[in-house]
Amino acid sequence: MRTTVSLNGVIGAKVKRVDAEPKVTGKAKFAADLYFDKMVHCYLVLARKPHGILKGIDVNEALKIPGVVGIYTHEDIPGKNQLGEVIKDMPCLVPVGEKVRYYGDVVAVVAAETLEVAKEAAERVKLDIEELPAVLDINEALKDEIKVHEPTNVPIHKKIRKGELKKGFAESEHIFEGEFYAHYQEQAYLEPQGVIVTPDIDYGYTVYGTMQCPYYVQKSVAHVLKLPLNRIRVIQTETGGGFGGKEDVPSFVASYAAVVAYNTGRPAKLIYDRETDIQTTSKRHPIKSYYRIGVDKYGKLKAMEIRAYMDMGAYATLSPIVMFRTLVHAAGSYEIPNVKVDVYGVYTNKIPPGAFRGFGSPQVLFAVESMMDEISMKLDIDPIDFRLLNTLRKGSRTATNHLLTESVGAVATLENAREISNWKQLNREVDEFNRIHTDRKRGIGVSHIFYGVSLGAAGQHLDASGAHVQINADGTVDVRIGGTEMGQGAKTVIAMIAAEELGQLVEKINVHQPDTAFVPDSGPTVASRTTVYSGNATRLAAITLRERLLKLFCELTGASSEDVFWGDGKYVDRTSGTEMSFEELIEQAFMRNVKLNETGWYETPKLEWDAERGIGEAYVTYSFATQIVVVEVDLYTGQVEVVKAFTSHDVGKALNPEGVIGQIQGGFIQGMGYALYEDLKMKTGQIITDNFNTYIIPTIHEIPEELVVDIVEDPFPQGPYGAKGIGEPSLMPTPAAVANAISRAIGKRVLRIPATPEYILKLIKED
Ligand code: MTE
Ligand code: MOS
Repeated sequence: MRTTVSLNGVIGAKVKRVDAEPKVTGKAKFAADLYFDKMVHCYLVLARKPHGILKGIDVNEALKIPGVVGIYTHEDIPGKNQLGEVIKDMPCLVPVGEKVRYYGDVVAVVAAETLEVAKEAAERVKLDIEELPAVLDINEALKDEIKVHEPTNVPIHKKIRKGELKKGFAESEHIFEGEFYAHYQEQAYLEPQGVIVTPDIDYGYTVYGTMQCPYYVQKSVAHVLKLPLNRIRVIQTETGGGFGGKEDVPSFVASYAAVVAYNTGRPAKLIYDRETDIQTTSKRHPIKSYYRIGVDKYGKLKAMEIRAYMDMGAYATLSPIVMFRTLVHAAGSYEIPNVKVDVYGVYTNKIPPGAFRGFGSPQVLFAVESMMDEISMKLDIDPIDFRLLNTLRKGSRTATNHLLTESVGAVATLENAREISNWKQLNREVDEFNRIHTDRKRGIGVSHIFYGVSLGAAGQHLDASGAHVQINADGTVDVRIGGTEMGQGAKTVIAMIAAEELGQLVEKINVHQPDTAFVPDSGPTVASRTTVYSGNATRLAAITLRERLLKLFCELTGASSEDVFWGDGKYVDRTSGTEMSFEELIEQAFMRNVKLNETGWYETPKLEWDAERGIGEAYVTYSFATQIVVVEVDLYTGQVEVVKAFTSHDVGKALNPEGVIGQIQGGFIQGMGYALYEDLKMKTGQIITDNFNTYIIPTIHEIPEELVVDIVEDPFPQGPYGAKGIGEPSLMPTPAAVANAISRAIGKRVLRIPATPEYILKLIKED
């Protein structure tokens, strides 16, 4: 009987992406493509001041414009105005008399017959704001002189206390220090935020929209409209990228539109333009970090002390959860006996950052991996050997003292990266290049990371998922999960799991858009958890159905179940050779009233966690990666080109290898954009790079000629067929690898990202 290996060859095989055809041909329906009868178009009225008291909202002029249906403010909210996934510190619509805390605060929503009219009216709404001095950077905020919220700008502090730091430093032969800064990064999904909220046939409201977390949206809309959850139905429309930017933000977007749908009784469509999207929605958090690291004379890590400050902007949104990941990942993928980490969340009068691929970890991984590179240079140890000496292995304890007993592929990724890059030869090539060239220099950067899969100890209450699998009379299969497809390939991997277990063909399986009316709350689609959670739930439901089909097949053919093969759309008795197509078997099942639908539910065992000391099992399992990058720096312009990259990832098991490779390639490029090009600029709290003409993301031209991907499969026994997550770890090693490569090319340490040409020239000129 099959257990964890694929017998019918779907898992691990090359399959056609199930959503490829509609997306390539333009058949796919995104939120902006949907229209409803009597629909109104919405546009937001923003505060456009970083800090102040809202004294009044004058809508008179705006209301005179023909086609305006209504302008709605906090007074028109039937339920509760305060929003926020963790701390409800953010108003849906800022009330008169209350504070405006950042440029993108929403004050009112205009509804009109056309989008043009809605936009024009929004521009005519006059806001009376008494300005207050604004806090625009972390250091200012830490002084707590001007407060964004009472009683303090530093409301959240998370920590790790492992071993004895003093003793660790006393035992160290060398002590190294460093200070780093990682800037904002915009998710830059191609499809901007957008929803339609419509009064529905079930006497409630249905929300259609681009999103990662339908259940979050459902709760927010219920909260704002003061309705029970069973009157709010949320259907995810095709989503053109999320990258974390559609984790909590769609809850706000849907709330604005819901206020309009409630007050007008009409379907309300709110699609952000790019500028509104960049001005008002979450980013990667800027983080300032300070590192102090002690190593013994052999190069073994003895002590690590870290302080990190993250800019939460005007509202906490997801920051407390993001900070947990920052905390756990700050010390890197290493075994260190003495660790002290402090992470602080700081309010400022700026955009509230939130989730972004890696979720608070790439910023500190850039810092810790820069430190590792610096230490290996100073101690004259090969950077890969240095990491091999200190990395996590089976039997190691992480910085939170989590004992790792299985699925630790860290060493394999280090060794494989060395091999696929032809390490020695690569170093010789670069030395040779640098000997010949004086105007351009090349450098090799290494980075090594780990990634805690799923929500971890801080989010255990959300860490479970459901699935519903139903076989229809014609042998086609409907799969419904709570996890969303946002381009990462979730639908394909889920279809593969159902096909693998049922024996039906992948193309006969339809993984539907998530709909809260059909699948129980399955938590958010974040933290690279879909394959493990929705995957296991689907697998469990499919196994139950398969067992029923197997029994029926044996009854009909006289086969004994151990001899039956299922796959390629048929069931076969290997002994007699008797076979039935999946369709024939289902026809027989229908004739006999066999139950052909099942639900699956998957949750992981509970984690032991001491939040006070930051000690315990932080995550259910960890993915690992090692990356080697070669850059070429133009010493006259400061411009950097990534020439080659080699990357090895322990994913547990690649269920859809093509999909895994695609994630790694995409993550690499997004990480490269963060390291080099993406420079969000602000002027007194207003983002001035609010479209892709000024906010520069990598294009096909910047992709390195050589990007070699290696996959390590050290199975996670709880994962479906051994799988762990890859969605975010695909990006996480890149910023550090690129920064380290630049540092080695120019002989100066890169201490901030993005490493723009201006910054690199400044470094080169410093003595
Ligand atoms: N890949 C694409 N194409 N589009 C996306 O929006 N989001 C990333 C990653 N890869 C994203 C993506 C993020 S932030 C996460 S958490 C994971 O995919 C979520 O998907 P998973 O749970 O299936 O790994
Ligand atoms: Mo991903 S940042 O966890 O949505």
